[in-house]
Amino acid sequence: MSAADLDVLTTPGVRMGCDLVEPSEIEESLRVFGVRFTDRVFTERELRACTGSDAIARLAARFAAKEAVAKLFADPDLAIPPTEIEVVGSGGAPALELHGSLADRARRDGWRDLRVSLSHTRCHAMAVVCVSCPGTVSPGSGARPAQ
Ligand SMILES: CC(C)(COP(=O)(O)OP(=O)(O)OC[C@H]1O[C@@H](n2cnc3c(N)ncnc32)[C@H](O)[C@@H]1OP(=O)(O)O)[C@@H](O)C(=O)NCCC(=O)NCCS
Repeated sequence: MSAADLDVLTTPGVRMGCDLVEPSEIEESLRVFGVRFTDRVFTERELRACTGSDAIARLAARFAAKEAVAKLFADPDLAIPPTEIEVVGSGGAPALELHGSLADRARRDGWRDLRVSLSHTRCHAMAVVCVSCPGTVSPGSGARPAQ
């Protein structure tokens, strides 16, 4: 790693993450694993929020949000318990809450203003997340240190 790379890693910035999920995959996991799947992945609030004819797509969007937040941590060795990443809110703008070890890690890394946006159709569900981090930039963001 060059000195310029290290400068990039210490530049304050916004990290972004996204993920795309097919609701049919969630449907299949529900069919095969049932409550073992839902208990491992979703919180009670998330399960209560995802009702209606598009319940599976809404769960898929929340699954995508968890994967997208995992990208924000940018640490392949970090354990990511899915229920420690929670999408809160139903029927309006969603928000993210972190719990347990991931909340501790985010606090240590100085995360501020964690945000999420969801979208879903019958075939696709997606999430985009972003967070402000002091002293870091998203890998591959193309950012360069000031000359
Ligand atoms: C809220 C709105 C943007 C949702 O869009 P949509 O295409 O119906 O649905 P999407 O699948 O893209 O998004 C659904 C998600 O949006 C999120 N959402 C809902 N209201 C929101 C709001 N006010 N702000 C941000 N996100 C919102 C929710 O997370 C929702 O998923 P959930 O119900 O599972 O929690 C839309 O219903 C709306 O109010 N549009 C008004 C804007 C407008 O007038 N557009 C017309 C010009 S193009």
